[in-house]
Amino acid sequence: MVRPNRLLEAANIPLRYARCELENFDVMPSPDRSIEKAKIAAEKFVDEYPMPRVSFGLLLMGPQGVGKTHLAVGIIKALMRQKGIPCLFRSFPELLKEIQNSYSPISQSSEFSLLAPVLDTEVLVLDELGAQTPSTWVRDTVSYVLNYRYSENKVTIFTTNYQDKDELADSRKGVTYTLAERIGDQMRSRLFEMCKTITMAGNDFRKAVKQAEHHF
Ligand SMILES: Nc1ncnc2c1ncn2[C@@H]1O[C@H](COP(=O)(O)OP(=O)(O)OP(=O)(O)O)[C@@H](O)[C@H]1O
Ligand SMILES: [Mg+2]
Repeated sequence: MVRPNRLLEAANIPLRYARCELENFDVMPSPDRSIEKAKIAAEKFVDEYPMPRVSFGLLLMGPQGVGKTHLAVGIIKALMRQKGIPCLFRSFPELLKEIQNSYSPISQSSEFSLLAPVLDTEVLVLDELGAQTPSTWVRDTVSYVLNYRYSENKVTIFTTNYQDKDELADSRKGVTYTLAERIGDQMRSRLFEMCKTITMAGNDFRKAVKQAEHHF
């Protein structure tokens, strides 16, 4: 087993999320106890990993600041520490930008070398799915990554601010597109098969708690 510290160093977790753990994810009051249920589902996911037959990932859906990225980071840290599983964190918009930049003639990295770890890692967090303005190229890249990981039976944890149509009815405020509109119907459908959907509803933690921590 690779030492957990080695795995943590290689996982590419952004500094801002370095302190995020499942243990310090507070159970905040939320509609339908969705934040508490999300935390329970995350802990269960870690306990049960690896799944015996067909593996599935998680799709964390919800508005800004409800703690999707925190929970995703907490899950992979626990998998690395407790089970020695190689994990990787990637912000999807950032990855796409790096791929675009790699097309420049002076760039040293190629699309392949950027994508290889994303395709191959055992557990991947793909943060902010759908955040990029949809274009054919963006959709093609989404489908390439998803289809590869799907066919290799690899686990992916996605976070997204976009919701499905049926949930839109309750929270139309501020939501202009559905996830399917951002990544395409076919990819949304594939995600239903690849992932258990966890919908998180609640207040923006940054506004509710983080603001109060600024002392002047
Ligand atoms: N339940 C919670 N307990 C403790 N800290 C939390 C909780 N929810 C959010 N936070 C903290 O609030 C900040 C925002 O959370 P996070 O970045 O995970 O939100 P998000 O849902 O990913 O938002 P966005 O959609 O904007 O990416 C982070 O610093 C995170 O650690
Ligand atoms: Mg986030």
